[in-house]
Amino acid sequence: MDPTGWAGVFREGRDLYTRNLRPGERVYGEDLRTAGGVEYRRWEPFRSKLAAMLLKGAPPGLWTEVRSALYLGGAHGTTVSHLSDLWPDADVFVVEKSPVSFAPLLALARRRPNLLPLLADAQLPERYAADVGTVDLLYQDVAQRNQVAIFLENARTCLAEGGTGVLMLKVRSVTQRRPVAAVVRDARAELVRAGFAVRAEVGLAPFSKEHVALVLAPPSAPSIAR
Ligand SMILES: C[S@@+](CC[C@H](N)C(=O)[O-])C[C@H]1O[C@@H](n2cnc3c(N)ncnc32)[C@H](O)[C@@H]1O
Repeated sequence: MDPTGWAGVFREGRDLYTRNLRPGERVYGEDLRTAGGVEYRRWEPFRSKLAAMLLKGAPPGLWTEVRSALYLGGAHGTTVSHLSDLWPDADVFVVEKSPVSFAPLLALARRRPNLLPLLADAQLPERYAADVGTVDLLYQDVAQRNQVAIFLENARTCLAEGGTGVLMLKVRSVTQRRPVAAVVRDARAELVRAGFAVRAEVGLAPFSKEHVALVLAPPSAPSIAR
């Protein structure tokens, strides 16, 4: 297992791994591997857009000390479970609006106390902002037409100055009619108008053909690259 440029993420060959917070337990059927007496979970890029983003060339040093994170669109907790591995002492708030997805998320959180699930609509951050407070990382993966507006509203409410935003932009949820590049350009322009710096843009194909990941620095935070 070799360390990578992203704290807590390991690599063996082409595969990424995180250290399993619950040794012996799988979350979504992933491989478990033991090295040096430590158990790791394989992080599947076809199942998790964050793993895809790392493998497709996200910049190193994306996070340093994460004490709290807000994750919008947790679904059953596939990606969330790896954040739970990465930051055992953090509070990872997970917003999910579907009661069907929320049930397995809740079960996962019972076994992983750093996960704090919220059954809520990410379009209404005022409903959970008081519980969440200010976070170091805002991650969004919701297939909604107004994805950028949702991200901006949550960032305005909860993201710390100097924090990091990751927006998994599902291009075809914004519109079916315009070229992908134009949709991404408009999304970037809207974010920049709101004061964000785009630190990286990463296409997720072949792992996720419809998504482009944007790594964002909020207003007045220093940007690494545009
Ligand atoms: C593609 S799935 C997320 C997969 C998950 N991020 C992962 O990598 O494991 C999108 C999720 O967003 C949820 N979602 C969509 N709109 C939402 C909203 N407005 N508020 C909260 N959750 C929402 C859906 O119910 C669905 O579970």
